Amino acid sequence: MEIKQINIGIIGGGNLGRSVAEGFLKAGIRASRIVVSRRRVHLLDDLHAKGVRIEKDNSKAVIGQDVIILAVKPYQAVDLLNELNPHLKPGQILLSLMTGLSIAELAALVPEGVLIFRVMPNTAVALQESMTLIAAPDCDPAIQKLVGDLFETLGKVIFINEELMAAATVLGACGIAFALRFIRAAIQGGVEIGFGADVAQQIVAQTVKGATELILQTGRHPEQEIDKVTTPKGITISGLNEMEHQGFSSALIRGLLVSYNKLNSGK
Ligand SMILES: NC(=O)c1ccc[n+]([C@@H]2O[C@H](COP(=O)([O-])OP(=O)(O)OC[C@H]3O[C@@H](n4cnc5c(N)ncnc54)[C@H](OP(=O)(O)O)[C@@H]3O)[C@@H](O)[C@H]2O)c1
Repeated sequence: MEIKQINIGIIGGGNLGRSVAEGFLKAGIRASRIVVSRRRVHLLDDLHAKGVRIEKDNSKAVIGQDVIILAVKPYQAVDLLNELNPHLKPGQILLSLMTGLSIAELAALVPEGVLIFRVMPNTAVALQESMTLIAAPDCDPAIQKLVGDLFETLGKVIFINEELMAAATVLGACGIAFALRFIRAAIQGGVEIGFGADVAQQIVAQTVKGATELILQTGRHPEQEIDKVTTPKGITISGLNEMEHQGFSSALIRGLLVSYNKLNSGK
């Protein structure tokens, strides 16, 4: 099966669900192949205007779909899957975007033969720049490839073992917020040294994009690129070392660990 021929049902058209739908449209998947459900359907009028079918009744977003994407909050999952259960058929592919629910926990709530994947994208899906981590069940490699190809249309994909899903959530999905907080702080510094906020934002965003591309395109370690801009006794190394004295790397690593431990403890 080709990804442009699959029929996709997205259950839960909130922040992430609607972003996934928008990303698929940008990737050239026909609107007529996508259906999105949520209870307050009027909030999806813009997607409807683009030709996406919108449903209030979840069963209509599930019946006949090849791939069903679950994008509700984790605490809504049990009730939702009890509702969907009679409408799911063996061979359908269920992609859970929900944090914290294992493949085994989800499998207990759906008919046998439904293929369950866990998929952890981030909000850059709408721009096709997501980092998406996927944990696959033990199934036909062609189906795993299909799911990988589907999310490749929304950015980069890495398949991981399911036990790394919590780490993937923190580094990839929460990571968007961590990176944006760095950007915000740099903008605030930029304003203090003389730029208006708009110009500071453009400078910081493009500089971060450039730094990212330097390591993505060359595969080099960040420190190799840092070495190129740190002259002995120079201004860059002085600023960097002061940031480290103030706990820059340590704060970031400790923040990641707090998020990870909180996710694992279920609080
Ligand atoms: N945001 C991220 O960066 C991110 C990244 C990776 C994974 N996730 C996961 O993605 C999931 C969704 O997150 P989100 O930020 O998109 O949350 P969200 O904005 O609250 O979206 C959830 C949507 O589900 C809908 N919904 C709730 N109950 C429903 C039901 N019974 N049937 C149909 N739709 C229902 C809600 O709309 P109505 O109230 O109108 O029904 C809501 O819009 C979460 O499990 C989260 O862990 C999020």
